[in-house]
Amino acid sequence: MPTKIAVKDLRKGFPTEQGHLPVIDDVSFEVADGEFVAIVGPSGCGKSTLLNVIAGFDPPDRGSVTVDGSLATGPSSKRILMPQQGSVFPWLTVQQNLMFGLNGHAPGNREQIADHYAAIVGLKGFEMSYPHELSGGMLKRAELARALVVKPEVLYMDEPFSALDALMSLRMRKELLRILAEERHTVVLVTHDVEEAIHLADRILVLSARPTRIQMSFEVPFAHPRTLSSPAAQGLKEAVLRELGV
Ligand SMILES: Nc1ncnc2c1ncn2[C@@H]1O[C@H](COP(=O)(O)OP(=O)(O)OP(=O)(O)O)[C@@H](O)[C@H]1O
Ligand SMILES: [Mg+2]
Repeated sequence: MPTKIAVKDLRKGFPTEQGHLPVIDDVSFEVADGEFVAIVGPSGCGKSTLLNVIAGFDPPDRGSVTVDGSLATGPSSKRILMPQQGSVFPWLTVQQNLMFGLNGHAPGNREQIADHYAAIVGLKGFEMSYPHELSGGMLKRAELARALVVKPEVLYMDEPFSALDALMSLRMRKELLRILAEERHTVVLVTHDVEEAIHLADRILVLSARPTRIQMSFEVPFAHPRTLSSPAAQGLKEAVLRELGV
């Protein structure tokens, strides 16, 4: 597969009252077209910072991010970020939120496409609901639909399911896998859940504590649907957790 995303020699820090806080310390990796890469690392190590920089929302101090060989210096509708804190507009209904990204389409079409994606994530019947009228799981579905509706080539997801209970999180993973089997995307997922990474990803990058570097990379060589209780999956989970110092 050709390279979709190339992250090269990335460094990023923040000015603070105590001085410069180094967060990303020389991170390089590539993501192939259609590949699903999960990034795990200790809390506060710089995962969200890294994803924000890669998605073009924050400039790096040094290094570069290229997508399809071109420098990616800003956000684009071809590359969508689902931020950790969520991104739906609370004053718009589910349908209006989904239509928001569809400016290029005729009005009738926009409704139809929005409702199609609401149905894909299991929100049929809730198109006219406002975000505060949804459960936590439904809200995450709305976030996912809002990302998918613009048919992005690349999906950057920051802990999309971590606020959900175990059962809902598992449902959402299965849903995501089903959608990815139908609509091909390149995905970079940040998660603290090693099992989620093994369930979903083709490859897992383990980050070190801040200032973060890539400490280890694991291939996930299991075909879908995956059985997480298999000895091989359990062995991989233990190996990743060992890297995380758990
Ligand atoms: N805009 C900012 N200004 C100053 N410091 C920041 C800023 N954004 C992040 N940081 C700091 O950078 C470090 C990494 O933060 P980041 O949110 O990237 O971590 P994370 O790995 O995503 O954590 P979590 O697992 O808790 O989501 C933290 O020490 C945080 O305080
Ligand atoms: Mg984070």
